[in-house]
Amino acid sequence: MIQKPKGTYDVYKENNKEIKYIEKLIEALMDKYNYEYVRTPLFEASELFHRGVGETSDIVSKETYDFKDRGDRSMTLRPEGTAGVVRSFIENKRYADPNIPVKNWYYGPMYRYERPQSGRFREFYQFGVEVFGSNDPMLDAEIISIPVNLYKLIGLKGIKVSINSLGDIESRLKYKEALIEHFKPHIDDLCDDCKNRFLKNPLRILDCKIDHDKECMKNAPKIIDYLNEESLNHFKKVQEYLEVMEIDYKVDPNIVRGLDYYTNTVFEVEADINGFGSNNVLCGGGRYNGLVETLGGPKTAAVGFALGLERLLNAIKAENIKIEDNGLDIYIIPMSENEKEYSYKLCQDLRMNGFKTDIDYMNRNIKANFKQVDRLNPKYIIIIGEEEINSKILTVKENLNKKEYKVKEEEILDFLDEKIEEEDI
Ligand code: HAM
Repeated sequence: MIQKPKGTYDVYKENNKEIKYIEKLIEALMDKYNYEYVRTPLFEASELFHRGVGETSDIVSKETYDFKDRGDRSMTLRPEGTAGVVRSFIENKRYADPNIPVKNWYYGPMYRYERPQSGRFREFYQFGVEVFGSNDPMLDAEIISIPVNLYKLIGLKGIKVSINSLGDIESRLKYKEALIEHFKPHIDDLCDDCKNRFLKNPLRILDCKIDHDKECMKNAPKIIDYLNEESLNHFKKVQEYLEVMEIDYKVDPNIVRGLDYYTNTVFEVEADINGFGSNNVLCGGGRYNGLVETLGGPKTAAVGFALGLERLLNAIKAENIKIEDNGLDIYIIPMSENEKEYSYKLCQDLRMNGFKTDIDYMNRNIKANFKQVDRLNPKYIIIIGEEEINSKILTVKENLNKKEYKVKEEEILDFLDEKIEEEDI
């Protein structure tokens, strides 16, 4: 039997309810924040990610799905959303929009060739936002508030927000020099990846999962001591705005993030839930004031984040949060083949009038149909027999208390409207 590719998963009865619920919530939340939806291709020119995400990031150096198309062009399945959205911002000249900042959101699959495990997939879904055109720290705080508020709406309690600042280019350069000085005598103790990072991007050494317990990591210089006045003020303002929104956070100087494009604010939200496992970073993001320029656009301040859908689903499971859908309103049972057309017409009318309606497609006998009722758990059951069609008086059964109502055909919509609305209150 052909099986799904390693590191991918199917969405079906097992998890589709939670996913649809989260997707609806994301859309509604983004509407409230007044963000505009964007969608970019699943594949882009490989160069975009090399220049955008960075050669020293694991994502680009080890994890991309690269292929040559039939025109011999190097293409890459997107490993994240930011680079594509920035490309689209530049290509569509969104920077010329007088209505700035441009606030974008997106949702879709990303591809990374990683070792599959719980919370780590090769195809996974991200919800993300990217905001262009303002360096206001209010926006840094806003992009932290979006996932925090989403988690709150879902009812997730165990989350931990950590923030840091990587400073502007000037502060970063000074810090890089300090890190090189610090790690130079320890270079032989570091893993091969870190030896490489030492030359290309020493900041990423702090992010190493192999070396993170070593003494030289623990007493490495902290970026916060190298921030210039402007970066420090920006960082303080972000914290003030978080406090205004009553968002709990802690400053963690070791958060450097795995992508090369960040400047100033970076943040991560972890699942703080017993037994959650090691892939517990629910989301991450930050400011990237240099990326639009790097990718060929005008100098543009930018900030964003992305969260992983699968890890959010794991968190919902770990906290045992039950997502209820609002259930089936009506189930229609035609007594025999003779009543199927009438029943089918009624089914369409009910659906078009806003009722979630289903019908027996299997010619079940009445006993089997009531077993189906137990499985579907509709609010009301309408049984259509010869008598109902002749008299134009329908029999409607309330599933909860098994009460039966006789309702004139022309009054059925009003009757159900009143009944079902009543229950929703
Ligand atoms: P990232 O930290 O690489 O950032 O990914 C964001 C989130 O995607 C992670 O926190 C995690 O929840 C999820 N994620 C990443 N890799 C996997 C995987 N293999 N399996 C399942 N979930 C995964 C970014 O991608 C940046 N583009 C975020 C950003 C947007 N920064 C600024 N704007």
